Amino acid sequence: MQLNGTTKVLGIFGDPIAHSLSPRMQNAAIEAADINAVFVPFHVRKVELEAAVAAIRSLGLIGVNVTVPHKEAVMPFLDEIDNEAKLIGAVNTIVHLDGRLIGHNTDGRGFLDSLQSDLSFQPAGKNVLLLGAGGAARAAIVALAQATAARITISNRTFGKAEELRAEFSGLFPDTEFVAEPFEVERLQPHLASADLLVNTTVVGLHGENFSLPLIESLSTSAFFYDMVYAPGLTPLQQAASDRGLAFADGRGMLVGQGGIAFQLWFGVSPASDIMRSVIAK
Ligand code: ATR
Repeated sequence: MQLNGTTKVLGIFGDPIAHSLSPRMQNAAIEAADINAVFVPFHVRKVELEAAVAAIRSLGLIGVNVTVPHKEAVMPFLDEIDNEAKLIGAVNTIVHLDGRLIGHNTDGRGFLDSLQSDLSFQPAGKNVLLLGAGGAARAAIVALAQATAARITISNRTFGKAEELRAEFSGLFPDTEFVAEPFEVERLQPHLASADLLVNTTVVGLHGENFSLPLIESLSTSAFFYDMVYAPGLTPLQQAASDRGLAFADGRGMLVGQGGIAFQLWFGVSPASDIMRSVIAK
């Protein structure tokens, strides 16, 4: 990579940021596309977020990714929010166009891309059981409902949040049945047995921990498991899926998917997703 007077700058805002795989992944794609740009990690604290967004304009950055914990907080500082990001209620990609900052959310489509490329799974007409009710769950719900899943069951440790999502999204997507369930064995059993896809949108497993309930064991052997967590080895849930011979994938494919769509928004061309994938492989 040769930096010079015309090198374009973009990057990612987050706190923490040092662990992010996006700089490695985006710079590999930038290099492969022979674009004169560099993607930089920016450690942005909450109190500096508004100033950091203003710097996109003042420094002429062509755009940024936004990650935890700023995806929602960044929204009031932007000039425009696209429909997908409005539905999800969060922005993970900002495009700087002639002084205007436009917020997008590519997480949901990245998730769908990964379901397709990693598992050859198409959500249309399928029953999905989703664990968690935070921002990652919202992106997955919007994507699955847009892809016309038949039923989305949301289960969360704090039941009220699952119920809030059910109420909100059942009004927006009448073609999908939404159910909220407490995170309890008896309540989840029928949904596990009938699920075509189980999705873990929580961080459980990141540090080797597991849910207190048996989950993988109750799935049908033809069910798929998508775990948004990615860790150096297999998490306990991923190991259980592997032991049962289920088709499963971790969140690396979603990272590549969301990054690829962001790349397209910034540069107007598709990146080499195989290269993005290979530089972040285990
Ligand atoms: P994100 O934006 O990444 O989804 P979040 O908004 O903080 O993060 O949401 C985290 C989700 O993981 C929540 O659904 C949370 O459950 P609660 O709503 O009950 O907090 C879930 N979660 C986190 N740690 C968990 C654990 N140890 N067991 C079960 N669920 C957990």
